[in-house]
Amino acid sequence: MVTAQRSEGRLSSSGHTALTSAVTAPNYAPLPVVVAEARGAWVTDVEGRRYLDCLAGYSALNFGHGHPVLLRAAREQLERVTLTSRAFYNDRLGPFARDLAALAGMDQVLPMNTGAEAVETAIKLSRRWGYQVKGVPADRAQIVVAAGNFHGRTTTIVSFSTDDSAREGFGPFTPGFTVVPYGDAEALRAALTPETVAVLIEPIQGEAGVIVPPPGYLAAVRQACTDAGVLLVADEVQSGLGRTGATFACELEGVVPDVYLLGKALGGGIVPVSAVVSTREVLGVFTPGSHGSTFGGNPLAAAVGHAVVGLLETGEYQERAAKLGVHLRDRLEGLVGHGVQAVRSRGLWAGVDIDPGLMTGRAACEGLAGRGVLVKDTHGSTIRLAPPLVIEPEDVDRAVDALAAVLAGGGR
Ligand SMILES: Cc1ncc(COP(=O)(O)O)c(C=O)c1O
Repeated sequence: MVTAQRSEGRLSSSGHTALTSAVTAPNYAPLPVVVAEARGAWVTDVEGRRYLDCLAGYSALNFGHGHPVLLRAAREQLERVTLTSRAFYNDRLGPFARDLAALAGMDQVLPMNTGAEAVETAIKLSRRWGYQVKGVPADRAQIVVAAGNFHGRTTTIVSFSTDDSAREGFGPFTPGFTVVPYGDAEALRAALTPETVAVLIEPIQGEAGVIVPPPGYLAAVRQACTDAGVLLVADEVQSGLGRTGATFACELEGVVPDVYLLGKALGGGIVPVSAVVSTREVLGVFTPGSHGSTFGGNPLAAAVGHAVVGLLETGEYQERAAKLGVHLRDRLEGLVGHGVQAVRSRGLWAGVDIDPGLMTGRAACEGLAGRGVLVKDTHGSTIRLAPPLVIEPEDVDRAVDALAAVLAGGGR
């Protein structure tokens, strides 16, 4: 075992990419960068090359790699107790849930692990609420979702995806979902029926390319849900927890949903932590035995999640994202017409549409990696920038300068 570890330590980047490709399922096409260490907004590969991480684990690393407060919380908890299951109480979950609920202005938390599990939980929650509280006839509940959505990868969630690559070959699909165009509040209102129990929506669509809906859209969706007696479930797994310059992207539109779905950054980039956060009335439809997870609410996750909530309570990260986000947008807009067709952003989160005549999003990402900046393409010609919120202002410039150079070089 020791020998095996030593030899792995000596593998080059190409050795690791070959090994990983040979022994893991081909459900990803990673850039050929093999990360060995990381701190803050920077990662280092096995050859010692440094890269600016402008993806931040798809926003799971909002506080950067190895944030000292989060590492301390994790280390201390590792020495105490890491897993109890929910068969017993632990002394970390209550304080974490109390403070997370308060941060969201809600009453209660249902802890899970991954974002997809939070979404699945919300689907079950909405259906049960629909039958018990709204009085929808058994097995008739409908949930309205938006085209272009990304809520995770389970069979039920991909059932209402509009992305063929996420669905192909995975049927039969789960019924009970109605898809409406994103950004069209009237279409959404028209889709609500007496059997609709919830609208499940991303306040900003991340995977779709940081699609920001028109001003007033979310507020109109909120009003439509209130009028029709339907739960508004905001999937803030990617948009939440500081990324957009506010704790929740809904806040930017003055909207309070009935249910928040959180994940990614809630685990501080250390452990998977997700949560469904809502009122006592709504979450109260669950009863013992009706839902659960072996790892959900474990003391290690709760300790790290609690430390994340503590960071967000300071407001420092939201402010930083808002301030640096203005700079990022100004700089990116300067590239429009120079290889960039359009830029959309909120806080430190930007979708950049590369001119497809110049290069693909993938080629842009490869070019950027060659210049020491890590980002990921989505949907062909869009690249998404989501650096850790701890990024230094000069590193924001460094990333945009690198993009400008890649575009000027036409991908070379
Ligand atoms: C909005 C949104 N919801 C849910 C998920 C799924 O989260 P996970 O990959 O942790 O299951 C994602 C992941 O990207 C997401 O962006």
